[in-house]
Amino acid sequence: MKSVLLRRKNPSDLLEKNRKVQLKQTLGGFDLILLGVGAIVGTGIFILPGTVAASHSGPAIVFSFIIAAIICALAGLCYSEFSSAVPVTGSAYTYGYIVFGEFVAWLVGWALVLEYGLAVASVATGWSGYLSTLLEGFHVMIPKAISGPFNPADGTFINLPAIAIVLAMAFLLSRGVQESAKLNKIMVFIKVGVILLFIGVGVFYVEPANWQPFMPFGTAGVLSGAALVFFAYLGFDAVSSAAEEVKNPQRNLPIGIIGSLLICTLLYVVVSLVLTGIVPYTKLNVSDPVSYAMQLMHQDWMAGLISLGAVVGMMTVILVMLYGGTRILFALARDGLLPKSMYELNKKYNTPTKNTWIFSTLIAFCAGFVPLAKLVELVNMGTLLAFTIVSLGVVFLRRNKNIPSGGFKVPLFPILPICSFLLCLFLITQLSIYTWIACGVWFAFGLIIYFTYGIRNSLMNKK
Ligand code: ALA
Repeated sequence: MKSVLLRRKNPSDLLEKNRKVQLKQTLGGFDLILLGVGAIVGTGIFILPGTVAASHSGPAIVFSFIIAAIICALAGLCYSEFSSAVPVTGSAYTYGYIVFGEFVAWLVGWALVLEYGLAVASVATGWSGYLSTLLEGFHVMIPKAISGPFNPADGTFINLPAIAIVLAMAFLLSRGVQESAKLNKIMVFIKVGVILLFIGVGVFYVEPANWQPFMPFGTAGVLSGAALVFFAYLGFDAVSSAAEEVKNPQRNLPIGIIGSLLICTLLYVVVSLVLTGIVPYTKLNVSDPVSYAMQLMHQDWMAGLISLGAVVGMMTVILVMLYGGTRILFALARDGLLPKSMYELNKKYNTPTKNTWIFSTLIAFCAGFVPLAKLVELVNMGTLLAFTIVSLGVVFLRRNKNIPSGGFKVPLFPILPICSFLLCLFLITQLSIYTWIACGVWFAFGLIIYFTYGIRNSLMNKK
């Protein structure tokens, strides 16, 4: 039994020439950066710089963003080494299979399905809220009964806009990754454009006195702020799930991962500085701090544009996270751990359409009917678990003689991967007890599937 659970994949078996089912290689470095910025910048930038500054960090929220960025960058470097050494879809799941064996790989894959699924569902719910605000600006009201999770006492039964946006993005993805990347590109330009406009206009209203005191809650506030703004960086790992659809992956994957993280950090830091410079941090504990700041400056047109940027931004997060989730399922099924239908490609579009629709329908259901607020921390749990495995995995990867030479290497090895591992572990310990329990339930479910299906159907049985 032990040897079954620990059976590992040989990287050369995974590489292109040995794969029966081939995805098309169409994405370049710039596409990947846009995919990364698409997945990362969404809800976080429009809300967290205000709420976290007001309640945890003050103007020193910029330090919180920088600390969270450093943790993500360390994990990002480890992801880059893996994805450049083994450019295969499945992200941390596949890397886990190579270095720790099937059982750990399954758990990581299962955690990633949770991360992407729940992130998409919760961002879709947020999207529905922002859409209502945006439409209200045009005097169009979405009835309350159809714009919230099932709660008859409050008069809401279904969140139709949230369901609609998940299914619309699923439709797009099923038509082809290149098509999705094209639309993603346009949307990323719109949201980054809106953010730059906010910075450009806002900078004229900055009063340096608002930055005093800069660190009202001390170092502890900055650190707890960092754990909270971590959410704003989630998504860059989805870039590595594109590995099989990338041209020259050894070069382009590290560019995509590190490039998108750098751009996002810069945007977050500057937005935070401008926001806390315009409005005293104590007033920023509102649900839409960035538009609120513009309203206070009587720039109502700008406030409207920001809602538009948020709506578009969240759409790209939904699109790319949905994409990441479908590719994880694809990899699990291709290895025999899930039913075959999850990796069948549609002949016309060359995308795993069945998998896309099954995954998206389940998520749309959650987004439409389940109140998710309490479960959102689980997204961080799923991500951090994957980060710890990838960080520690790099240490073992270097010892694997079957890895082709060349490609990206994490600097300061092994110090950086070990720091990354410890920091992610530390953040996991900061998550609430409810998150731990919910996570336990999810994994129990995963173990049942593995021991009743995966272990028997794994392709490794045929070796
Ligand atoms: N990083 C993503 C966001 O902020 C999840 O919406």
